[in-house]
Amino acid sequence: MKRIHGKELILKVTIIGLIFLLLTVGFSISKQIETSDHEIIIGPYTQNVTNGSITIIWETNTNTNNNRIEYGETTNYGYIEYGKSDTYHHEVTINPSFSLGHYRVISDDVESNDLEFKLESQCQDSGMFTCVLYGDSRGIWDNWNHATQVANAINDEHPDLTIHLGDMVNNGLINSEWTSWLNLMKPLMQNTTVFGVIGNHERNADRYFEIFALPNNERWYSFDYGPCHFTILDQYDLWNFFSPQYEWLIQDLSTTDKPIKIVCFHAPIFCSKGQGHESRVDIRNIWEPIFSQYNVNLIFQSHNHNYERTNPINGITYVVCGGGGGPLYMPGNGEFINTSKMAYHFCLLNVSLETNSVEVTTKGINNEIYDKFIVNTTRPSTPDAIITKPEKALYLFNQKIWLYSLQRHPTIIGKIIIETSTSQNDFEKVEFYVDGDLEKSQFNEPYSYPWNKTIWNYTEVFFKHYIEILAYDHFENIAFDQQTVWRIL
Ligand SMILES: [Fe+2]
Repeated sequence: MKRIHGKELILKVTIIGLIFLLLTVGFSISKQIETSDHEIIIGPYTQNVTNGSITIIWETNTNTNNNRIEYGETTNYGYIEYGKSDTYHHEVTINPSFSLGHYRVISDDVESNDLEFKLESQCQDSGMFTCVLYGDSRGIWDNWNHATQVANAINDEHPDLTIHLGDMVNNGLINSEWTSWLNLMKPLMQNTTVFGVIGNHERNADRYFEIFALPNNERWYSFDYGPCHFTILDQYDLWNFFSPQYEWLIQDLSTTDKPIKIVCFHAPIFCSKGQGHESRVDIRNIWEPIFSQYNVNLIFQSHNHNYERTNPINGITYVVCGGGGGPLYMPGNGEFINTSKMAYHFCLLNVSLETNSVEVTTKGINNEIYDKFIVNTTRPSTPDAIITKPEKALYLFNQKIWLYSLQRHPTIIGKIIIETSTSQNDFEKVEFYVDGDLEKSQFNEPYSYPWNKTIWNYTEVFFKHYIEILAYDHFENIAFDQQTVWRIL
């Protein structure tokens, strides 16, 4: 057996020691490299704020295990809430006992900066709150330039909450567009809670439902803030009579006790068209009677890339607020439009809890003021005008031959004279529309319209039509009535 001499032993121990040291340092370096790969790439931002809870969302570049929020009234935090393990998408709801606070999120060994949150209950102390509504930021056409300018201008207003009225991106099925949108929205989404409305460009994408945490089924939902009840609707799911959304809408508006009711959806049901889209007369036919019956005050729409505000129609002011970054459209000339503007813009609501009033200011990206109006619980007087003919009956060449006993649409064979009753008011004029197109303006009584346009197109021989009247009084108030009919020939 070979003997190991002392010097040789020292050398061997030294070499083994060096190897051990190198392995330790190497392992430590590799661990540091591995941990430094963790990053928070989305958020954190707040969602679904109520008077006692708020949800925080963030995403990491890889799955992480120990995901948590530290929060408190100061940057010392003191409270902790844990999220799910082994995921990159983190969504945690906290229930603070205080309305203003600080938070930071931690995923394994990465943590965010300190951020602030505010619950709905904070407006009870301040006596007011601010909310911004806007839509159509979809800005891939100009590399998100205008969308960024509008988002930054909104952020400068420090709104308590923001409602995006849909079409955030151009194609909701392309994840990189959502990443671009989230990046430009990061400052705004960290300073305010953003609620979403589904537009046609969202394409019902899974990513939309991942990014937003919203009440109810996240498609149609409502929430309260101060004296306001906000109702959000989805026109890209079923909306017709007896659909789940229709039944929910009636239940929602009939049970709220908030004095100001604001409804939001994407495609306008009252707009002037211009270079944009026509009013969705089919949806108006179903939803407008509900909005009127339950005394909705304000309706915000988007889809057309411009600004429009109607005079009160059956007591409701309709706003198109679609200047969030998409290419602009020239508004049209509807008589029911009070104000319109082709510009990038957003609507800022100042809500007073003392007077239950909403001051709406429409602002541009350089602080321009394009419009200002006030809505309160005293609804504008609604003039009285209804369609009296056709009734729910069968008509043969303008003669009523059978009054229906059931609630079914009038059936019209041949020509008919549409008649109205406006006995209680002196009107400036009455407009008659068929399928959303203005057919006649009548300035004197009797307010009637002979609908004698012959329908020769084979596909329209037996077809559903929407007859509507808009009756204008001398105080900028408008009465609206509608009748859906079947017409043969
Ligand atoms: Fe749209």
